[in-house]
Amino acid sequence: MNLVFLGPPGAGKGTQAAGFAKEHGLCHISTGDKLRQAVADETPVGLEAKKYMDKGKLVPDEVVVEIVAHSIGPDECPDGWILDGFPRTLAQAEALDARTSELGIAGVEAVVYFAVGDEEVVRRLSGRRVCKECGAVYHKEFMPPEEEGVCGKCGGVLYQRDDDKPDTVRNRLKTYREQTEPLIDYYKERAILAEVDAGGAPEEVASAISTAMEQRFE
Ligand code: AP5
Repeated sequence: MNLVFLGPPGAGKGTQAAGFAKEHGLCHISTGDKLRQAVADETPVGLEAKKYMDKGKLVPDEVVVEIVAHSIGPDECPDGWILDGFPRTLAQAEALDARTSELGIAGVEAVVYFAVGDEEVVRRLSGRRVCKECGAVYHKEFMPPEEEGVCGKCGGVLYQRDDDKPDTVRNRLKTYREQTEPLIDYYKERAILAEVDAGGAPEEVASAISTAMEQRFE
């Protein structure tokens, strides 16, 4: 099963992708997580990417395409993958198509589109906390850790992402509207887009995704 999770920042793509990938034995490939790791490791890619991420802009296509191209092969992901936060431009979507045919694997088989309003996105991002050690995602109000500031999975320290500050969130939403939203039509035209109401509680969203994917792959 080769899937793309598409939607605005803070829609819950990462939260849902982690659970769905685990349940179905898929690779969960988040370009945001990979870029944040590169930033933390201070690699040349990370230092370059940080300039864009801090402003809420997209990192250049060639950088993210290169990251994904080496993560989706049959050796790495024999049962398939979920791409979380990729593609985000038409050029990335086309590069993904080219790469899957080059690898001789199925292309994108279904796209889950997370439909959620801006107000909810801002509420989710302003309260998000992430584990410094294992990357687990929490929310101060909606998905709080048992002990404040401490990851329930590994005991790591929770922090607020730099790009979750209000000004950057506004820019990320603008970037999403301008550069990523056109992908909705791109995948609609191929009849592989499944729109899911992502405004409900996490379990409700998970159940809507499962139902949509059962229908798609029945
Ligand atoms: P990235 O990390 O991909 O950020 P994003 O797409 O903006 O998505 P988020 O991680 O912010 O949100 P999410 O939808 O995963 O929500 P989450 O599950 O965490 O990218 C960061 C940056 O990297 C980009 O701005 C760009 O610069 C660069 N980049 C990445 N990919 C790129 C690409 N392909 N091309 C170019 N540049 C790229 O949930 C959010 C919060 O809500 C959490 O606190 C969670 O606990 C909570 N929550 C989740 N679900 C629910 C629910 N149902 N109800 C209540 N709360 C919920």
